[in-house]
Amino acid sequence: MDKDFISIFDLSHVEIEAIVERAVALKRERNERRSQQSKRKGAQGLKARRDECIEKTLALIFEKPSTRTYVSFAVAITELGGNVLSLNWNEIQLGRDERIRETARVFSSYVDAVMIRAFRHATVAEFARYASIPVINGLTDFEHPCQILADMMTIKEYKQKFNGLTIAWFGDGNNVCNSLIGGAAITGMNIRIATPPGYEPDGGIVEKAKKMDCGEVLITADVEEAAADADVLYTDVWVSMGDEAEQEQRRKDLRNYQLNEDLIDCAAEDAIIMHCMPVHIGDEMTEAVMYSSNSVIFEQAENRLHAQKALLLHLWG
Ligand code: CP
Ligand code: NVA
Repeated sequence: MDKDFISIFDLSHVEIEAIVERAVALKRERNERRSQQSKRKGAQGLKARRDECIEKTLALIFEKPSTRTYVSFAVAITELGGNVLSLNWNEIQLGRDERIRETARVFSSYVDAVMIRAFRHATVAEFARYASIPVINGLTDFEHPCQILADMMTIKEYKQKFNGLTIAWFGDGNNVCNSLIGGAAITGMNIRIATPPGYEPDGGIVEKAKKMDCGEVLITADVEEAAADADVLYTDVWVSMGDEAEQEQRRKDLRNYQLNEDLIDCAAEDAIIMHCMPVHIGDEMTEAVMYSSNSVIFEQAENRLHAQKALLLHLWG
């Protein structure tokens, strides 16, 4: 087991299955507790909120904004019985050019794990190299592995399996797409990526996934080819954090890659619709698709909480 979670490739198929299984159990227990709590209320209910009593401190460092990653990690560690420290890059000395390596050593003496959301993937990798505690990638320009863990959990809940399923991705071959390719390859799912030229996912990740020889990895410019009989339809923003200067060009280049009603008609009838959020309605996805009966977008967001609890327990052994 790696001490860090920097890339989805840090986990094996067996580890992903175990984390997903634990996350599903934690979700079930939490739902039971919450329904009991709403009946009982009061101090007794508060005590019953804790899953475990792990007495650890998790630091969250953000160089870019976040809603889901921030709140789900903060609630996860609190419900596990630990403490959270949420820090903006610019309120600590990192914002004044203190080096990553010294920061990593100092954090290692104070807290039990660090989650970092950074612009550059190399920042998180360097932090992990110099830290003696687990370091978690909370999104970089290259990968978003925590999102994919929650997505794997969501797929398992709806489809009861991974092997043999087909995921279709539409739009920008970005950080979420890179990690999704890894998640699919590790667990034996087929993955088809529909992007216009110039927006393909990372070539190294595609090659790595193909070498794993688990399922099909297809990169195409044809949205219908990707969507044909797919079990999972997934998209993400066209303008990721850090890409704002290219906004106009991206909206032009990606406009034929919208996840809309016509595309859904090409997929399997029971295909689930996924998006990591935040959603830009009218760009990558229509409102009708987002709120269609096949959409599992809000379950995906909720599952960040359960999957990350299971991840923390996994990393802390
Ligand atoms: N999906 C996701 O990571 O959302 P946030 O940017 O709100 O954390
Ligand atoms: N690709 C998006 C994901 C946001 C959760 C971004 O990096 O901004």
